[in-house]
Amino acid sequence: MAKDSLPATIAIDGPAASGKSMLGQALAERLGYAFLDTGRMYRAFTLAAILRQVPPTDSKACAELAAAGRLRVVPGADSRVFLDNVDVTDLLREPAVEANVSAYSAIPAVREAMVALQRQLAASGKAILAGRDIGTVVLPDAPVKLYLDASPEARARRRSTQAAQGETEARRDISGRDRIDSTRPASPLAIAPGAIVIDTTGMTPDEVIAAAMEQIRCAAG
Ligand code: DC
Repeated sequence: MAKDSLPATIAIDGPAASGKSMLGQALAERLGYAFLDTGRMYRAFTLAAILRQVPPTDSKACAELAAAGRLRVVPGADSRVFLDNVDVTDLLREPAVEANVSAYSAIPAVREAMVALQRQLAASGKAILAGRDIGTVVLPDAPVKLYLDASPEARARRRSTQAAQGETEARRDISGRDRIDSTRPASPLAIAPGAIVIDTTGMTPDEVIAAAMEQIRCAAG
C-alpha cells in the first residue's frame, strides 16, 4: 500500500475491552500513523478531578478544570498523558479512576475540551484515534471508521487479564460503564454511519488486524 494513498485519519470506536487499543497500536506501528487512545484523556481528567476533590455532580467546576488546559497528551504506540507536566499514564487504571470515568466523561463541557484537543492532534498528521465518539463526533469525515465489538464475557476475560482483576468484577465494571457510556445524552457510544463493525469475540489479534487492514486497503483504493 503506497504511503501517500493512506487515509488521513482512522476512527476506531467500541465498548470497553473490545480491542481498540491493541488494534490502534498495531496499525500505527505498521503504517506509520500517530495513535491516540482518547480513553486515556478522559481517565486523566477523572484523576485530576478526584485529586482536586471536584465531584462529577459539580459540572461548573468540572468545566473550569477541563478548560484550564492542565492535560497534555503525546500520541504514540503508548500515548503518554501528562497532568500539570507530570506523567500520570501509569495511574489511569487505578480502581477509583475505573469506577468514576464514565460519570465524568458524560459531562458535555468536559467532552468539548477533550474533543477540541483530539481534533488538534488529528490535524497535525496521519492519525488513528480510538474511543467512543470518534466516528460520530470527533472525526465524522474520517475515511475509515471501524467499530469493534465483542461479547461481554470475552471483554471481561480480556480485561481481567490486563488489569489483574477477577472476571466477575471485570464483568460488573464493564457492564456498568457500557450502560453509562451508551445511554448518556452527550455523544453516547454508537455505531457511526458508514462504520464497519468487527465482532472480535472469537478472533485472534492478528485476525482483527487483518480485517482492519482490508478496510484500509479498500479506502486507499
Ligand atoms: O477506552 P477506555 O475504557 O479507556 O475509556 C474510559 C472511559 O472514557 C469510557 O468508559 C468512556 C470514556 N470515553 C469517552 O466517553 N469517549 C471517548 N472517546 C473515549 C473514552
